[in-house]
Amino acid sequence: MTTTAVTHIASLVTNDPSLGNGTPLGLIQDAAVVIEGDRIVWTGESSKAPATDNVLDAAGRAVIPGFVDSHSHLVFAGDRTQEFNARMSGQPYRAGGIRTTVAATRAATDEELSANVARYLAEALRQGTTTFETKSGYGLTVEDEARALRIAGRHTDEVTYLGAHIVSPDYADDPAGYVDLVTGPMLEACAPHARWIDVFCEQGAFDGDQARAILTAGLARGLHPRIHANQLSYGPGVQLAVELDAASADHCTHLTDADVDALGQGNTVATLLPGAEFSTRATWPDARRLLDAGATVALSTDCNPGSSFTSSMPFCVALAVRDMGMTPDEAIWSATAGGAAALRRTDIGRIVPGARADLVLLDAPSHVHLAYRPGVPLVSAVWRSGERVA
Ligand code: NIG
Ligand code: FE
Repeated sequence: MTTTAVTHIASLVTNDPSLGNGTPLGLIQDAAVVIEGDRIVWTGESSKAPATDNVLDAAGRAVIPGFVDSHSHLVFAGDRTQEFNARMSGQPYRAGGIRTTVAATRAATDEELSANVARYLAEALRQGTTTFETKSGYGLTVEDEARALRIAGRHTDEVTYLGAHIVSPDYADDPAGYVDLVTGPMLEACAPHARWIDVFCEQGAFDGDQARAILTAGLARGLHPRIHANQLSYGPGVQLAVELDAASADHCTHLTDADVDALGQGNTVATLLPGAEFSTRATWPDARRLLDAGATVALSTDCNPGSSFTSSMPFCVALAVRDMGMTPDEAIWSATAGGAAALRRTDIGRIVPGARADLVLLDAPSHVHLAYRPGVPLVSAVWRSGERVA
């Protein structure tokens, strides 16, 4: 198998706390990484790198693990420019806008939907994302939800069934009937195509009892829970997530002290989605409060046409540092190893021997520049599974 070394890396983020300076980022200065096939086989000081078939001289630039975007909604058609315009003129964000995207998505062909996913993925890849999760949730019929998951599965293994995004407009007068559909025939049709089950637990979407019924049904069918929780208001979502050992509670914008304690003590990752607060002009989640309580925090884009139409992890890192109380080191960890934890994966999010060779070379001397130089395209090369992809 061909071996490639990336040498003379000014600053290498490994996310192995036993290495380098002993912080969670495991920073190594003047480092090298050796890739063999799709795996990382060696990291260390550049001067000690073993001989390899190919050498790429990073010439004093930084390398970080590929971003793990553990929360996106990419299977959709159309956009919501008008809603965005209205919001920027003072209208509040309402999850009801989801219905606009449901209509456009139902009307689209499989090929159109798949091409859209590919397009947003290509954008994300150019910005350093090497793993992403994506969801259904804009179909809301048995056929349209199963179709969304099949299409998502062409592009990623991290596929989430979100039939419970909102109550389908077809069931406006019968929300209980919709929950029966989501936990019955729709679940049967969707479970073979998904790894995860998600529910939007929020006023105007699904309450705590409905969310519990939906996630429990998914668990019984072999899907592991994650949840949209506490985005627009305080609510039961976070507590439910921890109780059910959900991999992640996502948004976490409105948290009581008890919610923060639960996340600090449980196994559930708190996934923060700063693109959503940016684009809906909402209150920022308080990452500092979660970190100080001992919670594992992930950062993701939430890329969707309504609340957060960005595919850029570097943008989310910059927002998290500027507005959510994270240090640059914490934000980089959360966007890489944190995302991996939110997907319960140990093979990604770290640059250590045995991990998948997902690397981002930055046109900057350190990872801090991703927050320090917001909006600047600093990603200069990307490897996924050992292959140069950007
Ligand atoms: O994560 N909160 C629910 N779902 C999405 C928004 C979807 C939409 O507005 O289309 C979110 O923000
Ligand atoms: Fe979301």
